Amino acid sequence: MNKKNWKDISTIKKQGINYLVEGNGKIKKFKPWLGDIFSFLYDRIMEKSIFPKLFNGDISKHFEILKREFKDIHDKEVLEIATGSGTISEVLPNDNKYVGIDISKGLLKKAYSRFKAKGFQNFELYNTSAEILPFDENTFDFAVCNLSLNFFDNIELLLHDLRRMLKTNSTFFCSVPIPERKPEKSKIHGTLYSEKELNEIFAKYNFDFESKPYENGAILYFTAILKDK
Ligand SMILES: C[S@@+](CC[C@H](N)C(=O)[O-])C[C@H]1O[C@@H](n2cnc3c(N)ncnc32)[C@H](O)[C@@H]1O
Repeated sequence: MNKKNWKDISTIKKQGINYLVEGNGKIKKFKPWLGDIFSFLYDRIMEKSIFPKLFNGDISKHFEILKREFKDIHDKEVLEIATGSGTISEVLPNDNKYVGIDISKGLLKKAYSRFKAKGFQNFELYNTSAEILPFDENTFDFAVCNLSLNFFDNIELLLHDLRRMLKTNSTFFCSVPIPERKPEKSKIHGTLYSEKELNEIFAKYNFDFESKPYENGAILYFTAILKDK
């Protein structure tokens, strides 16, 4: 697999956000899905447009589900892939050690204020992509990716890294739109994988895939537990 060694990646922290530094000493830039200038509108776009129009779903129900799933997670090392504006801080208990990554600087700045306001004592945010994760092996007890898997160019690169960074028997929780539940004319961004395809891809990386029985428009909720590496 053509992948940079994470140990060669250095970072610099500015105003609470960690940035990747390239060989020439410059900060690595990522092109965000939503221009940084629109970050202040992000939560409104999710609630008023993406959930009802693209997903045919309900954002309040989504948060109830996440709250139920995360309420018993305490004192863990949690990794979130694609933090966005930090909405997970509303539903994840604040005694966890949280690490979040996202390609959008603007959204990470929002997330920083949110995690502070929610009383997280131990959190780190990184401006990087799901394909470049500069974290050591066997670091995390729990990983999560909400409504973002469809954005990534190569989810196998992510799974390869997740298997490396997660401790054995840890859980990856995911919510993602899937084609078989998608409203007919809805143009959801990125690549949509069916439940069957997701199951097969996760199995390839030694994860036990289990879909959750929740119904919320186009969204599938599932967990994948990392068996022996
Ligand atoms: C629909 S938002 C979901 C954000 C958040 N998880 C939530 O539930 O509100 C999708 C997020 O994926 C991020 N994103 C898109 N492509 C990415 C990539 N390759 N690596 C990391 N983050 C990415 C976007 O910047 C955005 O924050």
